[in-house]
Amino acid sequence: MRTLYIKIAGLAGALREAPNRLVGSEMNDFPLLESAWLMTENERIVDFGEMKNLEIKLIQEDVEVVDVAGGFILPGFCDPHTHMVFAKTREGEFVDRINGLTYEEIAEKGGGILNSAQVLQNTSEEDLFVSATERLNEVASLGTVAVEIKSGYGLSVAAELKMLRVIQALKEISPIPIKASFLGAHAIPTQFKTNREEYIRQIIEEMLPVIADENLADYIDVFCDRGFFTQDETERILLAGKKYGLRAKIHANELDFTGGIQAGVKLNALSVDHLECTGDEEIELLKGSETMPTLLPSTAFFLGINYPPARKMIDAGLGLALASDYNPGSSPSGRMPFIWSLACIKLKMRPMEALAASTLNAAYAMGMEKELGSITPGKRASFIITYPAPSIHYFPYSFGSDWIRQVVIDGN
Ligand code: NIG
Ligand code: FE
Repeated sequence: MRTLYIKIAGLAGALREAPNRLVGSEMNDFPLLESAWLMTENERIVDFGEMKNLEIKLIQEDVEVVDVAGGFILPGFCDPHTHMVFAKTREGEFVDRINGLTYEEIAEKGGGILNSAQVLQNTSEEDLFVSATERLNEVASLGTVAVEIKSGYGLSVAAELKMLRVIQALKEISPIPIKASFLGAHAIPTQFKTNREEYIRQIIEEMLPVIADENLADYIDVFCDRGFFTQDETERILLAGKKYGLRAKIHANELDFTGGIQAGVKLNALSVDHLECTGDEEIELLKGSETMPTLLPSTAFFLGINYPPARKMIDAGLGLALASDYNPGSSPSGRMPFIWSLACIKLKMRPMEALAASTLNAAYAMGMEKELGSITPGKRASFIITYPAPSIHYFPYSFGSDWIRQVVIDGN
């Protein structure tokens, strides 16, 4: 079945041939084709062009014509960093922070990730599956067309496997593609505080072989930061994952300069994420690497910490991706339209830079750039149709308002 979308005010990310990612000044050149049409066939994009050149022969009998009536079409968002499988929200810590505690102080008291892990240990696979399905459907309705989901609230052999099996089950029913990352090294469980080596041994010798055997993960992640895992521990865990074919994605430099970016570049990680603490040395290292720096501005927003130096990174020639970090502790929202706004408002990214970062570069950061991230013939027909708007800048500008009219996923 062919569908022809006509009278599109602006078709964003329209690229006949898409590069794998955009870097530096290329990001702001993410194209916008004005007054356009778009043709899809079943789940794929077939062609696009300008309305003034639309040939009548395209409107054949078996073509469904959709009048977009002055709305825009944007590539759907990809969200390459989430923790959306979790057992319980943590609004108590939100109030603790209002009352003056920091994220790290809450973590040291056994709150934070350890709190989520404790509740998850006693939550059934079915319950985790049901609540995560609701979150998935919510983000899909907000324009997310592919999502990465991490484990990391298990922190025991049984519970980490339980989380990954839930993610595997979600892959089966999800309207949008999912990539799974194994994040056993999210925190040191309390009972291993004086014997970190034993927990790391469990990750490497007990969790990884089963994960590889059952094909439960696409990537491996470590929280490399002050109070969590050191650079040396991070490299050991990631190298062990590499032996099983798992490429790295790292939580790096959120709380301090802790070598996470260095580890990522050295081990050719697909992405290094967070990066609130990024200096000249880290920027130099990332240049010329295949590792995608991925920024999570809603975490800095929600925790009230410093934002990463996005402007400096782009001006130095780096490409950037954006993600929601959807999780119960530091970013309890997976709303990518808000991430687009935050990136503009707080990271000083230009609207098209931030759109490229949350579509094509975000797809790259989860290994989906051949399938998604731009309006390109052959890619999946997964995109957002908006209400009419004065310009594309209106969308990140009007933060919090509902400008999405419809989300098309694989042509549906
Ligand atoms: O990406 N930084 C580490 N992990 C999560 C937070 C998880 C939590 O607080 O539950 C993050 O922000
Ligand atoms: Fe995270």
